[in-house]
Amino acid sequence: MAVDLLLGLQWGDEGKGKIVDVLTRNYDIIARFQGGPNAGHTLEFDGIKHVLHTIPSGIFHEDAINLVGNGVVIDPVIFQKELDNLSRFNLDIKKKLLISRKAHLILPTHRLLDAASEASKGKAKIGSTLKGIGPTYMDKTGRNGIRVGDLELDNWQEKYRALADKHERMIDFYKADIQYDLAELEGQFFKAIDTLKSLTFIDSEEYLYRAQAEGKTILAEGAQGSLLDIDFGTYPFVTSSNTTAAGACTGLGVAPGAINEVFGIFKAYTTRVGSGPFPTELFDENGETMGRVGNEFGATTGRPRRCGWLDLVALKYAVQVNGVTQLMMMKGDVLSGFDKLKVCTAYNYKGEQISHLPYNIEAENVTPVYTELNGWKEDLTSMKDASQFPAALNAYIEFLEDELQVPIKIVSVGPDRTQTIHR
Ligand code: GDP
Ligand code: IMO
Ligand code: MG
Repeated sequence: MAVDLLLGLQWGDEGKGKIVDVLTRNYDIIARFQGGPNAGHTLEFDGIKHVLHTIPSGIFHEDAINLVGNGVVIDPVIFQKELDNLSRFNLDIKKKLLISRKAHLILPTHRLLDAASEASKGKAKIGSTLKGIGPTYMDKTGRNGIRVGDLELDNWQEKYRALADKHERMIDFYKADIQYDLAELEGQFFKAIDTLKSLTFIDSEEYLYRAQAEGKTILAEGAQGSLLDIDFGTYPFVTSSNTTAAGACTGLGVAPGAINEVFGIFKAYTTRVGSGPFPTELFDENGETMGRVGNEFGATTGRPRRCGWLDLVALKYAVQVNGVTQLMMMKGDVLSGFDKLKVCTAYNYKGEQISHLPYNIEAENVTPVYTELNGWKEDLTSMKDASQFPAALNAYIEFLEDELQVPIKIVSVGPDRTQTIHR
């Protein structure tokens, strides 16, 4: 079995970009399977910090092929910016970056529709990244979308015009105060389409099938996190794709039986950006410390991330839904210095104590029940081996392994590639 998955288990930003970069040397192909430029995946090595939005996080490794799968939605304008940012690395992009013909395109009017929809929601807004993700997936499931493969057809611009005109009428319908100059946006868009067309488009499911037959190894890179999954997340405060394991099958065309390891990645605490319920959210100095030390600002939007204690009820749910076989704990270094650490092990829900995620986890329904553990003072960032870990960190890790019944194989102690400890 040749396909491993790497998935975020919380509300995104767990550190997927860093770990995919670390793991890439073990794989021939790195494939993104869902989401779009709402993602911001950060990599750090050789003193350089790099944020990727659509391009898979294995792009900096010489030998790895990076594939943008059919489940991904691509904004050509953002894609072009990502390519521009890569230009100084002298990568053979035409050879090592492949794009599925079945991936859908985000049009300028999808972004405007996202803005109009959010504006119309008032206080109930999702806190979307406003990258046009929801409207693009709506057109995909509504069978109206434009796909990368359409760009190879002569009449795609007619299809584009009809869809963009319809979108303009829909934007009017929202009566939102959205100012825009579509001609200017389309100028950028069509220029970016030319760049996109200079890349390599493939029938990616066929490509991946052949790669498996030839014994190649594939790492599927998830975006967002399980609690943002359209089905299993904190709906409606979610994104518009399946971020969980099954999304890799539909987003790449790989068969369930081909999947081997499911790497689940989580922060040693919890963060969330955008609106929606977050039972363990902290509004005190502990939350402020996590945000400051962890530098918790969105890699895509720059918004401050909400911070709180680790929520094991939610994490257990994510482990179950994805069938996680190995865990990776990120940002352990950020917790150094706390006297005591809290971990949510149950919820008080309608007068009862429960240990599963109920339908409705809004603050008025759920209060976390915490188990307290000892903190550690040691700086972890220069540690190279798990034998150097303080006893309280080992106790924290072992407590989580015991609760989740899955081994924690990697502990990350800093943003750099090298600050990664295997256990
Ligand atoms: P992703 O969306 O899952 O790829 O995660 P992001 O890149 O949005 O956010 C993770 C942030 O944490 C980035 O700024 C990373 O550079 C940083 N990071 C990753 N792992 C660690 C770690 O172990 N410790 C610290 N302090 N920062 C980390
Ligand atoms: P990565 O891959 C964190 C959140 C948004 C918002 C909700 C819907 O970097 O982990 P959307 O733009 O999809 O309509 O937004 O989902 N969100 C993310 N939060 N990390 C992400 O990606 C996210 N992508 C979307 O903040 O709450
Ligand atoms: Mg991110």
